[in-house]
Amino acid sequence: MRTQVAIVGAGPAGLMLSHLLHLQGIESVVLETRSRAAIEATLRAGVLEQGTVDLLTETGVGERLAREGYPHHGLYFRFDGNNHFINIFELMGGKTVTVYPQHEVIKDLVKARLEADGDIRFETENVRVSDLDSNMPKVHFRHAGQDYELDCDFIAGCDGSHGVCRPAIPANALKVLEKVYPFSWFGILAEAPTVEKLIYSYHEKGFALVSSRTPQIQRMYFQVDPNDNVNNWSDERVWSEFHARLDGEDGWTFHEGRIIKKDIIGMRSYVVEPMQYGRMFLAGDAAHIVPPTGAKGMNLAVADVAHLSEGLNHFYKTGRGELLDAYSAKCLRRVWRAEHFSWWMTSMLHRFPEDDKFQQRLQLSQLRYVTSSKAAAYSLAENYVGFE
Ligand code: FAD
Ligand code: DHB
Repeated sequence: MRTQVAIVGAGPAGLMLSHLLHLQGIESVVLETRSRAAIEATLRAGVLEQGTVDLLTETGVGERLAREGYPHHGLYFRFDGNNHFINIFELMGGKTVTVYPQHEVIKDLVKARLEADGDIRFETENVRVSDLDSNMPKVHFRHAGQDYELDCDFIAGCDGSHGVCRPAIPANALKVLEKVYPFSWFGILAEAPTVEKLIYSYHEKGFALVSSRTPQIQRMYFQVDPNDNVNNWSDERVWSEFHARLDGEDGWTFHEGRIIKKDIIGMRSYVVEPMQYGRMFLAGDAAHIVPPTGAKGMNLAVADVAHLSEGLNHFYKTGRGELLDAYSAKCLRRVWRAEHFSWWMTSMLHRFPEDDKFQQRLQLSQLRYVTSSKAAAYSLAENYVGFE
């Protein structure tokens, strides 16, 4: 088998890359270990930056997003018993964020690729990359009972944080920079009337977040111990924890409803440098992880592959590799901005086990500043919608 670009992983990075390459007349094959049903049902990120929405729309996969996406004109920080609004739409001159779940983006991209006769191999096994520093790297895999060797010009490692591409790079060719946080997020999806808000709440019992996904569906999170377990949380206990962290002096509250799903999400900051080895490029979670506070993960994955597809297009049109050579440095500038923003949001909003009263006063002072200074709010807004 042969293709121009072999893409490992059908997450937002891999599927979007395949879609962008197709629009530029470049052939690709996408290899995915899970089934189509599984990738289209996995609940993950929810918030799309303006640039992500624009790219999906301009490349013809934004129709359902325009109909069903939930634009939020701003976000609320909840502390001192009240909601404090940051009007991102106004501060950013009309740019904002849209809540549209990641698995819906996946569905739209899979549909577009298959309608264009794109080659996506679901449920592949034993995926392995080789010959990375030659001009013809290879991906080996098993599909529908048969073993394959896929020759290609380039490999895109879009296989997420537990994939096979990054570990195939010799350890001495990569720098790994990492930070682990002493808490996780307990998340629920609930059928409950919307509060039409995106609320990041700081409370002495710990962080909580409300994200209205649709008028009927709410995604809500609160900080828990990283060793906690979903089975420790009955529905009653979950709602009582949300009330303890969200109800306040202003009388604002949320609606309870049927809990459809519960999960626990680990919190980590992680970057590898560079995002390239020979003819293999890493994109998305394969190269970097952010803690979810600030909702940058999926947006970074899409931004990476927008640069990668430009570099590949330039290579195939001109035979020159300078944009591909610049890929890692260009992505890492954006990645480190998002790493800082996600770390900063996480640090401002969570309770850390070692925190004392002094630290809590600093967090509150930062929250009051960001919600009362136009300069501070502007800085937050330009990072939240996606800083170019
Ligand atoms: P992924 O989406 O991980 O896609 C990688 C794909 O590669 C997967 O489909 C996987 O099955 C496949 N794969 C893995 N190994 C192989 C292999 N060997 N061969 C072939 N295929 C392989 N971000 C936010 O912004 N907000 C959130 O609320 C949020 N919640 C999250 C919750 C969870 C549980 C997780 C894990 C992440 C969450 N994120 C969130 C992060 C966000 O979802 C990711 O940043 C985003 O999915 C990155 O996209 P990706 O395409 O790089 O990787
Ligand atoms: C959602 C996730 C986030 O990480 C965030 O900061 C806001 C919203 C969500 O899942 O909807």
